[in-house]
Formats: sequence, structure tokens, C-alpha cells
Amino acid sequence: MAFNQKFLEELRQRIPIYTVIGRKIKLVRSGRFWKACCPFHGEKTPSFYVYEDHFHCYGCGIHGDVISFVMQSEGRTFNEAITELAALAGLEVPEQTPQDRQRIEKQHTLYDVMLAAQEYYCSALDMSAAKAGKHYLLERGIQKETFESFKLGWSGDGRGGLIHFLQKKGYSLDLIGEAGLLRKKTETEWSGELFFNRVIYPIHDCKGRPIAFGGRIIGDGQPKYLNSPETPLFSKRRILYGLNRLSSLFKRNKIDPLYNTVVVVEGYMDVIALYQAGFYGAVAPLGTALTKEQMKLLWRVTSEPVLCFDGDKAGYKAMLHAAEESLPILTPEHSLNFLPLPEGEDPDSFVKNNGSEAFLSLLSKKQSLCDALYGIISAHVDRNSPEQRAFLKTQLLSIAQKINDETLSKEYRRIFMDRFYQQFHSKNNQFRNNQYVNKNLLISIQKIDKIQVDYERICILFAILLKYPDLLFSVESAFFKLDLPNQFVNLRAAMLEIFLESESFEKRIKRLKEEGFADLIKEINNQSSIFIPQQESTKCDAHLVERHWWHFYGLLNIHELEFQVEQARKKWVQCPDEHHQNIFIARLKALNIAKTGSNTEQEDEIL
Ligand code: GTP
Ligand code: MN
Repeated sequence: MAFNQKFLEELRQRIPIYTVIGRKIKLVRSGRFWKACCPFHGEKTPSFYVYEDHFHCYGCGIHGDVISFVMQSEGRTFNEAITELAALAGLEVPEQTPQDRQRIEKQHTLYDVMLAAQEYYCSALDMSAAKAGKHYLLERGIQKETFESFKLGWSGDGRGGLIHFLQKKGYSLDLIGEAGLLRKKTETEWSGELFFNRVIYPIHDCKGRPIAFGGRIIGDGQPKYLNSPETPLFSKRRILYGLNRLSSLFKRNKIDPLYNTVVVVEGYMDVIALYQAGFYGAVAPLGTALTKEQMKLLWRVTSEPVLCFDGDKAGYKAMLHAAEESLPILTPEHSLNFLPLPEGEDPDSFVKNNGSEAFLSLLSKKQSLCDALYGIISAHVDRNSPEQRAFLKTQLLSIAQKINDETLSKEYRRIFMDRFYQQFHSKNNQFRNNQYVNKNLLISIQKIDKIQVDYERICILFAILLKYPDLLFSVESAFFKLDLPNQFVNLRAAMLEIFLESESFEKRIKRLKEEGFADLIKEINNQSSIFIPQQESTKCDAHLVERHWWHFYGLLNIHELEFQVEQARKKWVQCPDEHHQNIFIARLKALNIAKTGSNTEQEDEIL
């Protein structure tokens, strides 16, 4: 029995997944998700995560929605699971009409036809007549093993070979036509095979069933790519090339989890080239802009797919279009990232020319949606034109307004405005931009400014550590990479030595003072007093303190902070618990703030 999608959607919505899983195992809430020890494999530390609409185990890779959880945890069939969940939700399982049944039977037969067609195309690639096609694929750098993995094929000459093959299996011409494999002569008549002299890229649904084909012409003919028409099985807005491959993505053990990033690229070739370079998470829309439906499909697998389009005007437009399209459906858990490519490159050419390591390092520099939007929109604004500035501001506000999620919309608005004022209205900038100021004077003022500001930041870093000495152990390596004035270098060394012996707070400070740092400590407290009140150390969220420390650190050495974020991310992936997650988030937030330049967060007062 097959159910209509609307009913299944409603079922999923009515029953929050954590309630069903929570009946079986104890879930602990952790921010926006829940976690537990995985019920599907024995483990002692939790790597089983339950999100809003799916679960995922980072230990064994098991993954699914509420329906598959019931199937897998109770050994139920799909129908049984649906019946059980429907009862739980108080929903009637819909009766099937004879028309429903007929439609579903037809669908099943269409799947069979497509599977047979794929078989035909695949084996045609081995015939001598496919020489040109095979040559093309090899020439493009596709390895033989990849042919099998992507079920690449050859159409043949289109003179009836496929029709003959399918008819021999008992499928009627009408059915072959409905599967989208024939050209239409009139509304009711067919006039021959759709694909000829083309390399065939089968397009699979989530379950890996072929539902359409893309055909690449050999040579320069038109159209370069031909896709199956829309059929009862295939709706190009609702599918992505390579989507079925994502389900096994997290089972693959890669040294660097960045290899598992879900990357949206433009074309078939990009998906295949990235796969060959070790990136198994590439998918592509089928010659259209990325749709909302496609984004939602991706969000089932990952919270932030990375869009990596061609480094040309069209790719840039596609990126902007996708960004705008996503705004109404963004949530705090579901966003997009962007990875601009160098001019003239597509992912295929990029990995071929530069290798996988280069793509990996590019991936680590992906931009958030918010950054990318600000960058694009403010790119060509003339800062001396009030009209242009006003227009930019309106545009930024209207973008933030398009986000339906209220909290997120406010955050975007705030970040956009912070940046806008920082870029166009901050005192420093106006000063710098004033053409009448003596340039040399300006440079020397800026130099003094910078030295003074850095000095203050160093004092703040020390002051926080003096007040919260335990923090030293989590920031130690970065702390030691700071370039410091001499007197601070000595204090740093003494702090490490004294803090290592776990004495009381007062004793530690006393010893530092005895070792001759009394004046310096006083100076540090004076310099940082606006940021760090002098009263007794209060109990305070350790991660918040840490975040503030990283914030000021980031202003002194952004590169090291970036590195530290990456390290923390890796550690968190290795041990996905709350502690590591918090460490990661503390650094990441600090990095974002350091980058966006907004340090007016109200939490500043907490220290
Ligand atoms: P080649 O490397 O020349 O094969 O192409 P590409 O992979 O660089 O493709 P390109 O960047 O030109 O296009 C990206 C994607 O857009 C392709 O994979 C197709 O899905 C789609 N596309 C390109 N040209 C056409 C076309 O003529 N018709 C249709 N329907 N889609 C096309
Ligand atoms: Mn391309």
C-alpha cells in the first residue's frame, strides 16, 4: 500500500519525533536537539542526536525520520509503522480509491520501465558503437569505476534499439512514452526515442531508483544537455542529481569531516568530479535554479548545505537567486553557506586544476548566508553618495524582513545594521575618508591608536585570566602564540607556572604579586576596568567568559582564532558531547563577532 504524500507529511508534523524516540530511550535536551546513547549500536557516550524532524547517529551512521525510527526500532514494515503512528496521532489511515490503486500500480510499472532503460543504456556503453561516448567520458577524466557508481550509459543511435529492448520485456509503447523516453508527435502519438548519440546520466530518487535521464551531446550540438520531461515519477523541481548518494554520506569514514560536506553544484560533471576527488556530498539541480523544495530536501541531511556555483556571471546570479529564495524558509537550524569559486572555474575544473586539498581548504573558508548577502549587496556602493547609502540600507532591511522566522529576522537586521554603521558611519571611517586631512598625520594617529587599542586588549585578556584562572587551560596554546610586550611575556610564564599548582584563587594572585608583578597587575586592572568590573569574582557561565576572551583574542590575532575554531570543531565532531559543542560555539561566536565588528552585545555586562 502506498500513501499519499500529504497524509505522510501531516503524520510527521503531528508527531514530534522526540516524543516517539523518547518513549524508548532517555533523551537529554541539548540546545535545539536531544541526544542519547544510540539504541542501534552499543555505546557508552552519546552520539545519537535527535533533531526537529530526523535522527542521526554519528557513531554508526543510522539516520531517518519518525517513520523509519518505528520501522527500525520495532522491526515493523512501513505499513505497520504508519498504522501505529496514525493511531498515536489520532489520524485515520486514508482508504485507497480504485483510482489511487491504479495510479500507484502504474507508477510501479513506470519504475520498472526506467530501471530496464537504465540497464539498456549502461550495457550500451560497453558496445563498440559507444566508442565516441566512452572516449568523451574518459577524456573528461572520469574513471572506469565511476561509470558503475553513477550508472553512466550511452543512448545508442536512437533508431529503436531501446524501444525494441523494452517491448521485448512486455512494456507497451504508451508506457515507454509515459516514462518520458520518447518524443511526442501529437498529443497521443509517439515519434521515436528521445535520446540519441548522447552520454546518459541517470537521475535517481532518494531510494536510488532511476526516475529520469540527462543526456550530454557529443561535440557541439544543441541542446548540450537534454533531460527527461516531467513524468509521474520525475519532477525536476523536487529532485537533485546525486541526492540518493547522501544517505550513505555519514557512514564513510574520512579523516576530515569537511569531505562529507553537502555541496550544491551546477552540473552533472561537477558532482562526478567532486566524487572522484573524495567529496561524496555533491548534488546538482537539473539545469534550473535551486528551488525551495530542493533546499528542504537538503535540510533533511544537513543544516547548512554549501552552494558552490560556477565562477561566472551566471553562477553568481544563481547564488543570489538561491539566497533570496531561501529567506522565507530560513530557521535558526536551517540555512545556507556559500563558496565562491575563482573567476572562470567550475567545481569540476577547480579540482582538476588544483586538487582535492585545495578544494578542502576552500571549503573551510565558506561564507555564511548573512556574510554573503551583505557582501554582495554592499559591493558597489559609493560611500560618498547619500542616495546609494540610503538605498543599501533599505535593501538590507527588506532582506531581513523577508525572513519569516522572527528571531532570526531580528538577528539579521541587527547584524546588517551593525555592519552598515560600522562601514559607513563610524567615526574612524569618516575620518579616514575625509580628503582634506593630512595623510601623514592620519597614518601616525592611526598607528598610535592601534598600539593603544591593542595594549588595552592585551590587558583585557590578562584580566579575564586573572579573574577566571581555570580558563587558562582551554586557551593556553593560543595564549602562547600572542606577540606581547616584554613585561607581559614574563607575567604569562609566571601565570602558567603558578596556575598549574591548583591553589586557591587568592593564593595564586598573592604569589604573582610576590614575584614582582603587583604593579603590572594593577595596570592591567586599570586598563580593563571598563570591561571587567573590579568587584569579587562572581559565579558566571564559563563558556560565556571563554567567548569573551576569544572575542578580544580575535581582535588581536584573527588567524589563530580561525584556527582554534577549526580545532574545536574537529574535536567536537570526534566527541560530539555538550562540553565540546559549547567550546566550539564559544569560539565560533567570538569569531563571528570579531569578523562582523559588533561588540555591543549586552552579555558584555555579565563579566
Ligand atoms: P560540460 O562540462 O560542458 O559538460 O558542462 P558543464 O558541466 O560545465 O555544464 P554547464 O556549466 O554548461 O551547465 C551546468 C548544468 O546546467 C548541466 O549539468 C545541466 O544540468 C544544465 N545545462 C547546461 N546546458 C543545458 C542545456 O542546454 N539544456 C538543459 N536542459 N540543461 C543544461
Ligand atoms: Mn559548468
